[in-house]
Amino acid sequence: MTILVVGGTGTVGSAVVDELDEHDLIVAGHTSGEVQVDLADPASIDQLFRTIGSVDAVLSCAGEAAFGALDELDDDDFDLSLSNKLMGQVNLVRRGLDSVVDGGVFTLTSGVLSREPMEGSAAISLVNAGLEGFVRAAALEMPRNRRDPGGAGNGRGGQSAGGYGCRGLSGESRGNTARGDDRRP
Ligand SMILES: NC(=O)c1ccc[n+]([C@@H]2O[C@H](COP(=O)([O-])OP(=O)(O)OC[C@H]3O[C@@H](n4cnc5c(N)ncnc54)[C@H](OP(=O)(O)O)[C@@H]3O)[C@@H](O)[C@H]2O)c1
Repeated sequence: MTILVVGGTGTVGSAVVDELDEHDLIVAGHTSGEVQVDLADPASIDQLFRTIGSVDAVLSCAGEAAFGALDELDDDDFDLSLSNKLMGQVNLVRRGLDSVVDGGVFTLTSGVLSREPMEGSAAISLVNAGLEGFVRAAALEMPRNRRDPGGAGNGRGGQSAGGYGCRGLSGESRGNTARGDDRRP
């Protein structure tokens, strides 16, 4: 499989890249990696897909979000979290639909703070929960195009990414992708 790994140079992404090393990987970072993209910039995402062409899977282990006390998080903190980790990954799917083959796979990263919040996690919990809602809903429409974004952990992407908190998915069944399989962290 040819797999685009956005954030593949990071802490989570490097572990995912190691797990998937038998595949043909295209590793993208913001300033590092084989190709560069800014998830917060839709035009940059479009340019990325124009550059790499068609792939079997897109796996994102990237997305910034702000951590801080609720009364200290400002508008910029929420804007960053929403535009980068949430809409950046949502746009990776939306703008990547025509670049992923039939039966292909999208995998996004949320995080356990969506369901197990802690003091200081309001912005991160917000975007993580938003991502998980998006994945569940988008998965319902993917069979039309035979592409499944979702959270199952029994596909190759799911097995390798799920242990690191990525939302893995297999293209094997609609039920699997819609169910989700969230794992720590
Ligand atoms: N680490 C954890 O324990 C953990 C737990 C739960 C969830 N997560 C989530 O997992 C994701 C990755 O976390 P991490 O700890 O691996 O982060 P990290 O080590 O800082 O790595 C971030 C990766 O994303 C890339 N990146 C940064 N900004 C980007 C942008 N605007 N557009 C595209 N790529 C960008 C970085 O590229 P450059 O190096 O070139 O900047 C790098 O490859 C985050 O969304 C985080 O919230 C992490």
